[in-house]
Amino acid sequence: MSFSVSDYLNALAPTTFGSMVRYESHTESTNTLAKHLPDAEVPHGTVVIADHQTAGRGQYQRSWLSAPAQNLTFSVVLTPGRSKGISLLKQVAALAVSDALAELGLRSIRIKWPNDVLVDNRKIAGILVEAVFKGASLARVVVGIGLNVHQTEFPEEVRYLATSIALSSPKACTRETVLAAVMRAFERRYRQWERMDPLLKSDIQTHVIGMGSWCQIRIDNVPQEEKVKPVGVDDDGQLIVVTEQLRPFTFTHQDVRIDRPAEPL
Ligand code: BTN
Repeated sequence: MSFSVSDYLNALAPTTFGSMVRYESHTESTNTLAKHLPDAEVPHGTVVIADHQTAGRGQYQRSWLSAPAQNLTFSVVLTPGRSKGISLLKQVAALAVSDALAELGLRSIRIKWPNDVLVDNRKIAGILVEAVFKGASLARVVVGIGLNVHQTEFPEEVRYLATSIALSSPKACTRETVLAAVMRAFERRYRQWERMDPLLKSDIQTHVIGMGSWCQIRIDNVPQEEKVKPVGVDDDGQLIVVTEQLRPFTFTHQDVRIDRPAEPL
C-alpha cells in the first residue's frame, strides 16, 4: 500500500517538524532529491519520503536496500543556525528514532556508534547525514533515515543482522504513525541540540553500546589493536575515549566505529 500523506499528517499534529511533506512513489534516493530541491521547496523541517528508492545510499558508499512500500525511507531537511556541533546531528537523529521506537513499545533499543539503531542487537534503522554548502557556508543538512517497519524477510547477507518493527514488537503499527512518532521525537531532540541541553548528550551516552567498557574499534575501517574505553561525546559530536594508558583522547575528523565491547583488560 502507498504511503498516505493525509494519515501521516493526522497522526503528526500539532508538531511543526515534518508538517511539510514531499512524497514520491519512487525516486533514486530521498537524500539526493532533498539535496537538490530548490530552497523554497524544502524549508527547515521538511520531510522528503519515497515508497521506493531505486538507488538508496548508505554510509561508506554502500547501497541501502529496502522492500518497496514496506519500510520508511525518508530525509529530513534542516537549516541549522550554526555549523558548530553539526556532527552531533547524526546521534540526534539516532536518538529520535530510538525515542520513537520506545514510544511504540519496543525494548532493547541501542545505538551502535556512530548512528545505527539496533533492537536486540540487530539493525532496525540506518542514518546518512549529508551537508550541502553554498560556497563556504552551510546551506542545509539532509538527515536520511531508513527504518525497517513491515519487512520480515531480508537478503541472505543481512538475514541475521537486520530486524524490523514487525519482527520486534507485538503491536501492529502503520508506517504513517511510525513516521509521525519519529518526527515528534526529532523535533524535541533538535530543540535540545539547538540549546545545547546537557540532557541530550547524557541520553546519547546512555544509548551508545560500549560506553564505559573496553572496546575494539575501527578507524577508517581498519581494526585497531589497542582497546579504548568510550567515556563520552563532546559538543562537536566527537567520541571521547580513554586509552589503555588511561589517557583521554578525542577523535576528530576520522571515521570511528565501535565494533564491540572487548574482554576486560
Ligand atoms: C546506513 O546505515 O548505511 C545508512 C542508511 C541510510 C538510508 C536512508 S533511506 C533514506 C535516505 N536516502 C538514502 O539514499 N539513504 C538514506
